[in-house]
Amino acid sequence: MMSKKAVLKAKKGAKISENIKVKNSEKPNYGYVALKPFLGITMVGVVGLIVALVGLFIDWSLSWVLLLVGIPVAFVGLYIGASYIPMHYLLLRPRYFTNVWKQIAENESVKGDEYLLDTGCGTGSVAINWAKILDKGKVVGIDIYGGMSGNSPDQAYRNAELEGIIKRIEFKHGNILEIPYPDNTFDIVTAGSVLHELHEEEDKTKALKEIKRVLKPGGKFITVELLRDARMFFAMLFFAFVWKPKQYWTNLLEKTGFKNLKIEEYKRYINYVMYIAQS
Ligand SMILES: C[S@@+](CC[C@H](N)C(=O)[O-])C[C@H]1O[C@@H](n2cnc3c(N)ncnc32)[C@H](O)[C@@H]1O
Repeated sequence: MMSKKAVLKAKKGAKISENIKVKNSEKPNYGYVALKPFLGITMVGVVGLIVALVGLFIDWSLSWVLLLVGIPVAFVGLYIGASYIPMHYLLLRPRYFTNVWKQIAENESVKGDEYLLDTGCGTGSVAINWAKILDKGKVVGIDIYGGMSGNSPDQAYRNAELEGIIKRIEFKHGNILEIPYPDNTFDIVTAGSVLHELHEEEDKTKALKEIKRVLKPGGKFITVELLRDARMFFAMLFFAFVWKPKQYWTNLLEKTGFKNLKIEEYKRYINYVMYIAQS
């Protein structure tokens, strides 16, 4: 949930201070910042395990209740704690996701002077990647910086400084549902694993319409989303419902009036799909 303060800042498109001083030994960090919610889930798993063990070893007529509650809670909590968080968010995502965007940027023919907006930019991995390619262009990243992800504008600017492109990039508070820019502004708009965070289809549609509005006629929208398939259910259990199958995004992009849809799948630990469409 976004805080009220985050909503207000996002609406105003508030600029973020860029007086960043990095240490010599510092490296860019594009990992998942907010570990607390997931550590909390792991702790719930540990409690479930304790409850199940108590149910197993004490001699009590209602021990089966402890087992019935403890076993599923322990399984889900520890599964998420042991596989989903460290594997995907800490180890694999920063590497694979950045590589996918590198590949996309290299495959797309760009002049190099484009004006690009990265929506839901987080710690800046997608935006910074494009700023390296668009060496005569300009990149803006917007984010609500208020959700569970723990992403911070400070880290985005640190990463930009460490990657040597801080002069061509700007990070701002901004909501994808109300993009703080006029119509026909950008040549390219990107969204890296952002649209699934809008839970209602109505909001996803609204976001796509906003993106179309700020794109110049014929401008490109590029988004990458994790693919909901059998592999994802294995890795994320019921959390897989957060993401969508390919057909869902295809339909939504077409419904909101995007044209010339190009789709590419990237096979990874959890599969990614790239969708490119023109306004
Ligand atoms: C999974 S993270 C991806 C961050 C970044 N694109 C990347 O690839 O590292 C999703 C991001 O979307 C942002 N976000 C969620 N809802 C948003 C909204 N309504 N407007 C702008 N950003 C949003 C979150 O704050 C978070 O930083």
